[in-house]
Parts: sequence; C-alpha cells; structure tokens
Amino acid sequence: MIQYEPYLLKGIDLTVKINKEIEYQNEFIEKVRKLNEGKKLTYSIITMGCQLNENDSEKICGMIEKMGYSRVDESKNADLAVMNTCCVRENAEDRLFGKLGELKKVKEEKGTIIAIGGCMMQEKHIQDKLKKSYPYFDIIFGTHTLHKFPEDLYNALKDKKRIEDVIDIDGEIYEGIPIKRDDKLKASVTIMYGCNNFCSYCIVPYVRGRERSRKPEDIIEEIEYLAKQGYKEITLLGQNVNSYNGGENYNFANLLHDVNKIEGINRIRFTSPHPKDFTEDVIKAIKECDKVCKTIHLPLQAGSTKVLKAMNRKYTKEQYLELAQRIKKEIPEIVFSTDIIVGFPGETEEDFEDTLDVVRKMNYEQVYMFIYSRRVGTPGDKMENQIPEEIKHERFNRLKALVETQTEKNGEKYVGSEQKILVEGTSKNNENMLTGRTETNKVVVFSGDTELIGKVIDVKIVRNAVWYLQGEIEIIHQLSKI
Ligand code: SAH
Ligand code: SF4
Ligand code: F3S
Repeated sequence: MIQYEPYLLKGIDLTVKINKEIEYQNEFIEKVRKLNEGKKLTYSIITMGCQLNENDSEKICGMIEKMGYSRVDESKNADLAVMNTCCVRENAEDRLFGKLGELKKVKEEKGTIIAIGGCMMQEKHIQDKLKKSYPYFDIIFGTHTLHKFPEDLYNALKDKKRIEDVIDIDGEIYEGIPIKRDDKLKASVTIMYGCNNFCSYCIVPYVRGRERSRKPEDIIEEIEYLAKQGYKEITLLGQNVNSYNGGENYNFANLLHDVNKIEGINRIRFTSPHPKDFTEDVIKAIKECDKVCKTIHLPLQAGSTKVLKAMNRKYTKEQYLELAQRIKKEIPEIVFSTDIIVGFPGETEEDFEDTLDVVRKMNYEQVYMFIYSRRVGTPGDKMENQIPEEIKHERFNRLKALVETQTEKNGEKYVGSEQKILVEGTSKNNENMLTGRTETNKVVVFSGDTELIGKVIDVKIVRNAVWYLQGEIEIIHQLSKI
C-alpha cells in the first residue's frame, strides 16, 4: 500500500492539501517526460463506464499527454494501454477480462504497460482475481488515487515493478488535474463526487466514497475558462446533483443560476438528480434559467412502491408521479428521461405492471433500461427472492417494446415544429449533412454550411426517422452568410 504524505491526512486544510498534492504530481509528470525523452511514445484508453467515468478518463488523458504520450485508437499499437473500468453491472466487468486476454500477447511482444483504473479496482474480489488470473498488469489504481497516476506510472517505469494503488477512503477533491477533453463544443464538469444514498442494488457508494461537493468558485472558474475556449454546452455531473452542497446557503439551484450567467455558454444540462431531493427551488431555477435545457433525467428505477422501498429509493410511485406533475405544471414544455431496472429481487408480475404503468403515464423521451445485476457487497445481492433470468429477460423485452412505441410516437410530435439546435458537426454517415441536438437531446440531421458548427440555430423538423429527426434550416441562416 502506498504511504501518504502527512498533508494528505484528514483534518488538514483542503486547499493546502490539494495544491501540494497536485504540485507533487506535476513533478512526476516532469520525471516521466524526462524518462521518455525522444521516444515518441503512444497510449490508448478504453472508458467503460458512465459520464463521470468518461470525465475521469479525460483527466487521465490530460495527465498522460502532459507526460509526452500521444493517443492512438488501438491498444495493440500503444506503449501504454489504459482501461478505466465500471462495475455497475456484470456486463461492464466482462469487458475488462476480455480485453486483458487480448492484451497478454501484445504485452509479450511489445512490452506494453497495462494500467487499469476506475470503479472496478475498488473491489477486493476483483483485485484478487486480477492478481491470480491476469498477473501481467503493471498498474492498478482506484477512484481515489486517479490524480496520482503520474507517480504510479513513474514508479512502474523506473522500478519495473507492479504498482497497486487503491485506497478505501471517503474520498477527497483534487483541483487542478490536467484535462484533455474529447469534444470542442460540449464539456462535462463534475460538480460532486461520491454518493450517500445506498440504493440496495447499487455498488457506486462502495466504490466512489461519500458525497463531496466542489466549491462553487472552482466550478464557475472552470466553466468560465471553458466558455473562453469556445465551449457552448456544459453538463454538470454527479451521482446525485441536487444534493450538491456548495456551503452555507448555496445549493444546486444557486449553482444553476450562477452557471446560467456565464457568457458564451448556450446550454446547461445536468445529470443525475434524485427524485427524493428535487426541491422547489431547483424546479424554479430550471424554469428561470434560460440556458438550462428543459429536459430532466428523473431516474425511476421501478414503478412499484413495494420494490422502491426494497431498493431504498425513499419515494413511492405516487410521490414520483406527483413530482413529475408538479414540474410539468411549472414548466409545461419539460420532457423527461429515466433509468429503469427490471427484475429486482421480489419483483412480481404486478410490481412490473406498475413500472409499465408509470412509463405509460410519463411518456418519457428516453428510457435507459437495465436488467438487474447482482453486485457483491450490496444488500440486493443477499436478498433471497432473486428473479430467474428468463423472467427478467421476458420483462425487459416487454418494457423495451413499450418504450419503442412511445419513442416512435414522441418523434412524430416534432414533425412540423421549429427546434433550437446546437450544431455539433458533420454527420458521421453523410459528410454533406450537418448534425446537432435539440434541447431535449434528440439528434437532428440537416443540410447546411459548416460555418454553422458551434452555433445554436432554428431548424424545422420535416421527418421522424425514429433514431434521429430530419430537419431543414431556416432561409435566414442561409442568407445571413451572404
Ligand atoms: N446516480 C445515478 C445512477 C448511477 S448508475 C442515479 O441514481 O440515477 C446508472 C444506472 O444504472 C442506475 O440509474 C440504475 O438504473 C442502473 N443500475 C445501477 N445498479 C444496477 C444493478 N445492480 N443492476 C442493474 N442496473 C443497475
Ligand atoms: Fe447508485 Fe442510488 Fe447512488 Fe444513484 S443514487 S449512484 S443508483 S446508490
Ligand atoms: Fe460510473 Fe460505473 Fe463507476 S456507472 S460511477 S463507472 S461503477
């Protein structure tokens, strides 16, 4: 286990700690640079998890590129292969082992450094499995030691020994980690880390530690900087953003208002809020802040009050529906998206019908559907009334069919309407077409000049192609270029 410097111990002033730690890591960035001088090294990264995990990967890339590596797509061509893992469901885990199998030969031939980080590394049984069955990895690092990647890499390169840098703590916040963002227009900004909710199916609180919020001034400063660089859309990230705590009398609603004031930013999104913490002031802030997209991801998880209780979600079916109604009354143009788990232990046919019932009533714009996956160490895993796989799959397919019909119908209602689109670039399938998204996050494809990229423009929707909408731009945008 890595020894921490005294200033990293709890109870010491945060700012001092952060600055010193990141300064300390910057020294390792320099050391690795020197070690690799003139070598033209490459790295690859695979990101397996959620948006927070993606944001972490951008930080990993930032540190690695500062150390002089340049990015390649394929890990078989890389001198340093990084995997940023997720353990929220079993299929996320399987991807890692498959990839490690492939990398064994690459390492033997090329001496590739294999570094594995992220949520899965926080699990003891996974660390054991790696050491037993995949002992050829070079570095493992967890969610609480991401910022120490330069030090870990330096030690791995210098001493040619395996580094295991995973600690199990409530977690800290480190400001000032270099970051290399994937996109030039849209940026994610993590506003809080960890989770206190302990939903009984979920591994996240065990691998991410307790909730801790960044200071409002640090968040604002980061977004102001992004605006200066030309970013137009910001997504505020956290496992439970509406329990953001920016200090006395400063909550998520205050943050929305402050981000809304930042010049140059056109759109603000956030994910995920928890229905139990959706306060009136947050609803009001969404309504009042013109840049906040009128679309809310409101994770349902299950429609049955009994299942919700067993999941430890702290709201009933009726409270969820009532909250959605209240939001809709305040902001009539609002649309919702959601996450749903099917087949949680004890879910009866009747319970599942409740989920379908909520889906029908809510008419979601988008539904992320998951089959319940047992996670070691969670209360859900110890429950005796687990649902057989075939029933889980059968319910999943029924939910999927309902959602697909709704999505198709929802697409129809756009046809003929005028939508504000942030033009993101040329379409992947057709270079002559532009693509962008509505406030409600629907992809729109239309023809127009590439000069429009980065602008928010009005587009008329002419056809619903289910997975995207086809649009036509207003003549005024064409004329304004002349
Ligand atoms: N903090 C976010 C979600 C984080 S995980 C929230 O509360 O909304 C993303 C989604 O994965 C969850 O919303 C849930 O639907 C799903 N999920 C989490 N644990 C799961 C499990 N054990 N099995 C299946 N799906 C799960
Ligand atoms: Fe998991 Fe629940 Fe926390 Fe979301 S709120 S991360 S589902 S424990
Ligand atoms: Fe995200 Fe997966 Fe971790 S969903 S927080 S990367 S367990």
